[in-house]
Amino acid sequence: MCGIIGINSNRPVSVSIINSLKKLEYRGYDSAGIATLSDGLINEVKSEGRVDNLEKNSLIQSMNGTIGIGHVRWATHGAPNSINAHPHSSQNVSVVHNGIIENSTLLKKYLIGKGHKFKSQTDTEVIVHLITENLKNENIAESIKKTLKALHGSFALGIIFKDQPDLIIGARRGSPLAVGYGPNENYLGSDSYALKSMTNKITYLGDGEFCILKKDFVEFFDEEGNKINKKVLELSSDEKKYDKGDYKHFMAKEIEEQPLTLKNGIKEYIDSRNNDINIYNFPWKKSELSSITLIGCGTAYHSCLMAKYWFEELTSLNVSVDIASEFRYRKNRFKDDTLYTFVSQSGETADTYAALDICKKANMKTCAVVNVIESSIARDSDFVLPIHCGPEVGVASTKAFLGQILILYMLALKIGSIRDDIKKSIFNEKLKNLIDLPKLAEKTLATDNKIQSISSIFNDVKGSMFLGRGYSYPIALEGALKLKELSYVHAEGYPAGEMKHGPLALIEEGLPVVVLAPRDNYYKKTISNMQEVIARGAKVLLITNKSKDEVLSENIWETIEVETTNEDLLPFLLTIPLQKLAYYSALKKGFDIDKPRNLAKSVTVE
Ligand code: G6P
Repeated sequence: MCGIIGINSNRPVSVSIINSLKKLEYRGYDSAGIATLSDGLINEVKSEGRVDNLEKNSLIQSMNGTIGIGHVRWATHGAPNSINAHPHSSQNVSVVHNGIIENSTLLKKYLIGKGHKFKSQTDTEVIVHLITENLKNENIAESIKKTLKALHGSFALGIIFKDQPDLIIGARRGSPLAVGYGPNENYLGSDSYALKSMTNKITYLGDGEFCILKKDFVEFFDEEGNKINKKVLELSSDEKKYDKGDYKHFMAKEIEEQPLTLKNGIKEYIDSRNNDINIYNFPWKKSELSSITLIGCGTAYHSCLMAKYWFEELTSLNVSVDIASEFRYRKNRFKDDTLYTFVSQSGETADTYAALDICKKANMKTCAVVNVIESSIARDSDFVLPIHCGPEVGVASTKAFLGQILILYMLALKIGSIRDDIKKSIFNEKLKNLIDLPKLAEKTLATDNKIQSISSIFNDVKGSMFLGRGYSYPIALEGALKLKELSYVHAEGYPAGEMKHGPLALIEEGLPVVVLAPRDNYYKKTISNMQEVIARGAKVLLITNKSKDEVLSENIWETIEVETTNEDLLPFLLTIPLQKLAYYSALKKGFDIDKPRNLAKSVTVE
């Protein structure tokens, strides 16, 4: 992962670099560093931990360079400490890097043979020494070209040179990189968000491209070193949306924003006057599609799993679901009549992007369900369905999940109606229920106090289980993932019907088991499975929906009831208490909720 920033200006840049690094912390927060040029010397300051630590470092105050690069790290090679923090510098060159250099061991051996001394355990340091080595015989442009050619793997790079007070080189292969334009200064950043306080004029580097960034102009080159022209995009400003307002954490705010996410999605896609779902410019005819493959990572993968149930129920398409990191290395049987759909909040997840790239190279039909519409996945897909949930900052995804499943549900409904797989009357009824969903989500959010006290169940436990069947199974997986991410408790999501094939052996006196049993087709079956775990001593928290009928089971430890709607839409409501359980459990333990240990918001390495 990691985030990089570069500024070439006439004014001292360290404060602006630090401010931009704070915005990039969603990409990594193990360590941070900055290097600027002043008086013909490269000055480097690095700190372990958050950007706050770097900011407090007294050496930062004396950095007055007008050109510099900065970095936030998510460790891949070498422990997260200040030595392995970026930038990495030789006497001549300083480099920040996002990505992984796969042949770093070989290159390191070669460079040590040439007399280079390494200070860190990172793969990045080989880039510094390789450029330094190549500079012995080549000019800067040639040495960069030669260096990039020698690197295997993925990278976004920002490079400054001791003897070049007006030059930053940016280069990208795999990992994203943007250039921003300001008044008498220009910028480099892992994304446009990091640059937003300075500019809304952005150019994205394409794969394999590099740039020469001067104060007054930027030139772009392709892999072969040919000069190319690139478009400058003007981005809208939504700076305020990144504010956590009165909330203690972004995650708390993002959970509460979910009714709005649903409202916005519905407003964008549903034409209530004509009882229709508008998906404009969908590039394929119904006869061209007979299956859909949904691909994502983490929470986005759970959205894909959720969508599989809906697509199977509402359409006659064949549906398959894949984890991107598996899909990209399998021997896929590509089919022309399949819609390959990539689900991603950030639109930058390396594995999801690689899976998209493979499909594009095979000339398949590609569709993206993303939040960040300027992202690589959005830009490179044939068709984009934005989820309109606004920036999501908390590392553990919440509102983006609801946004993704909303879009996927509407897509399933629309395809089902176009293909005459569902009757118009049923379509209309489902649309009506959907329009009521934001209100129900709001009401479900109000069960806060109870969840706060219940969440102590996860204090000092060996593990926990989350069970569900049918539509509730992907939600059980997502609930378990939230608890792992935030509260560092082992949590296993499982289809309730599978318990007796193994996991039942884990059940012992007092083990917390969260059972999702809404009143749907699977209700009775799930309740039976629940009784089996209760009989073996589990402490069961049942999550169901409100009903006039009592739950017929004894010895349930606690019950939470969400609002009632049709069974397609219950997964939206069941998700909310699970997010809150994880949130309050982590809050009680004093963990860093928006930045859980070892994780990052956007996973831009394999
Ligand atoms: C990381 C995040 C998860 C997210 C996953 C996929 O692991 O911490 O919250 O679900 O990446 O991210 P994407 O941006 O592709 O949805």
